[in-house]
Amino acid sequence: MPPQPRVHVFADPAAVARAAADELSRLALAADPGEPFSVALSGGSTPRRLFAILAGEPYMDAIPWERLHLFWGDERPVPPDHPDSNYRMVANTLLDAIPIPSANVHRIPAELKADRAAEAYEHELRRFFDLADGEAPRFDLTFMGMGADGHTASLFPDSEALAETERLVVAPWVEKLDSYRITLTCNVFNNSAFIIFLVTGGDKAETLRQVLEGPAGGFPAQLIRPIEGQLHWYIDSAAGRLLKGDGE
Ligand code: 6PG
Repeated sequence: MPPQPRVHVFADPAAVARAAADELSRLALAADPGEPFSVALSGGSTPRRLFAILAGEPYMDAIPWERLHLFWGDERPVPPDHPDSNYRMVANTLLDAIPIPSANVHRIPAELKADRAAEAYEHELRRFFDLADGEAPRFDLTFMGMGADGHTASLFPDSEALAETERLVVAPWVEKLDSYRITLTCNVFNNSAFIIFLVTGGDKAETLRQVLEGPAGGFPAQLIRPIEGQLHWYIDSAAGRLLKGDGE
């Protein structure tokens, strides 16, 4: 049985982002210094704040950036310099400011056709994590967001991608966006050692209540339950205002 998610409520989005930066720093410093520390990033507004915070002190100096390897949980089908690119958001807010070797930055090559990009990224994950058939990568830390419809990464409600168990990366067509997306699959996320959802804003309060306190299964975010890892929700008080349970 996966462990119960732990919900942490903070005053506002800035406090959520700061707590996430502290946790990344704590985990990276506690990890084996002889091993890479792999982090999967997400798009979205709260991560943007997180990346900006990480680019300043004390994190800039404290985090062993040369050991960090950055990956992306999902991407839009655009080149890396496009305004919609999740990679570009991290490049502009964080990568330009920190001493991370370029070989440690593993972006999704979303300038390719979406299914080719998914294949290429799966190949990159297999190479980096030295995976045998049937194995999934184990990220040391994965950041995820959630939309008001309960989607996470680019796993949208009713998508065939939700049932994918073989592939590590897929390129589903997302009807409501009229676009392809490229996303890691549930199995990959659920193999993470530590997952933090970052959710802020009152427009997500009702969905968050249903995801955390309603019946299981209706929302993609509910499918994220690490098999052998920790699951934390870092939320602000606006997003958590309808929750009954005790946040920390
Ligand atoms: C993306 C995401 C996506 C995001 C949620 C929440 O690329 O858009 O990875 O899943 O995390 O839509 O985004 P916000 O935090 O901006 O609401």
